[in-house]
Amino acid sequence: MKRRPVFQVMAPLDRDALAALRADIAAHGVQVPVVRTADGRIVDGHHRARIAEDLGIDCPSLTVDVDDQAATEMALRLNLLRRHLGPVAWAAAFRRLAEVRGVKLGQGARNDRTSDSVSEVARPADLSALATELGVNPRTARRRLRLADKLAGHPDLAARVDRGEIDGRKAEELVRRENFARRRAEAPPPPRTTLGDGIEVRCGDFRDVLADVPGGSVDAVVCDPPYDNAGVPLYSDLSAFAARVLKPGRLLVVYCGKVDLPEQLARLGEHLEYVWTGAVFLPGRHNEHRGRMIRGRWRPVAIFSAGLYRPRHWIIDAFASEGNGAKSPTDHHWQQSVGPFIRWVEQVTEPGELVVDPFCGSGTTGIACMSTGRRFLGCDIDPASVSLTVERLRAAERGDDVEGEGA
Ligand SMILES: C[S@@+](CC[C@H](N)C(=O)[O-])C[C@H]1O[C@@H](n2cnc3c(N)ncnc32)[C@H](O)[C@@H]1O
Repeated sequence: MKRRPVFQVMAPLDRDALAALRADIAAHGVQVPVVRTADGRIVDGHHRARIAEDLGIDCPSLTVDVDDQAATEMALRLNLLRRHLGPVAWAAAFRRLAEVRGVKLGQGARNDRTSDSVSEVARPADLSALATELGVNPRTARRRLRLADKLAGHPDLAARVDRGEIDGRKAEELVRRENFARRRAEAPPPPRTTLGDGIEVRCGDFRDVLADVPGGSVDAVVCDPPYDNAGVPLYSDLSAFAARVLKPGRLLVVYCGKVDLPEQLARLGEHLEYVWTGAVFLPGRHNEHRGRMIRGRWRPVAIFSAGLYRPRHWIIDAFASEGNGAKSPTDHHWQQSVGPFIRWVEQVTEPGELVVDPFCGSGTTGIACMSTGRRFLGCDIDPASVSLTVERLRAAERGDDVEGEGA
């Protein structure tokens, strides 16, 4: 009876890789000896041994006198060192090796804001030492572990990444889209939700659902409209809305795109006075504009006032987004980092004042307001975005970490 390959720690090779190995062994014989325990069990080389047996050719082997735990560790280590593993399979083998070695993997070092995914990040010294031993940069190891976490419930996507069909970033994007589509299929949020002290979220087009906001009643409009070409006309409507609802001399702070920036600025100026342009430096990978061969690392932030600007505070005009730009699987596609929004809100309003965001997306401005004691009124035309906003605001109310690291 055939012995069970107890040390076959990795998934079997796929059909193409197996066919390539078979062709190589048929042409050159088994070049790398199979490793066996003293009682003949294979530690490394299951595929080689099986192909040699099939082809009826000699299969050289080495015997190691080790216990089962050391044999498992050896199998994992050899696979991690030699086999061309995709990043997700590598992360799985790395975790198992860490387990076998007794290297503790810290839990919850990073809050994924998901109920079904527990992030594991090794204590840096342990992770670094183990990754370095395997010839892998610790940052790469950490990135692969995070990617594996995010793709945990999506084996098909993980397999596509490992086969090199899509990169990790694309896979994460597909997971976010899938999660968002699921959210869309759920029951729509109520037209209005109020939370805590002076926080309200509405569902619908801002031109309709914010039409009842009294003129001259708002202390600041802080927002991040769509930047794409189709969204450009919204900047005229935003300008008219802000001019109507803002108290005299108060500010609209608006994240802009770069491709259509001249037209966005011109439209904002239709009903408002230009004050300044600030910036937010973006973390993570560059935004590539291939046609222009430009890699973008910052976002313009336009500042306009309702009538003549009446300065109340010094304004610092540029901030860096914190974090590394990574998004969790449940984040909004356009989710921004909360930190810079906190700084804008703090700089243009006083505690207790009212901030409006007509394009709230995942509610980043609302979270900034909640954490700085401002009142907030936000809306979004997309019900799934509104339900995400309400969820994040409720989490923020409970004191959970809702910091986004998006761009
Ligand atoms: C760039 S995203 C905002 C992202 C947000 N700052 C965040 O951190 O999640 C722009 C949002 O504007 C919403 N939107 C587009 N047109 C709108 C309209 N006419 N009224 C209200 N919301 C609109 C989109 O659904 C989208 O969620």
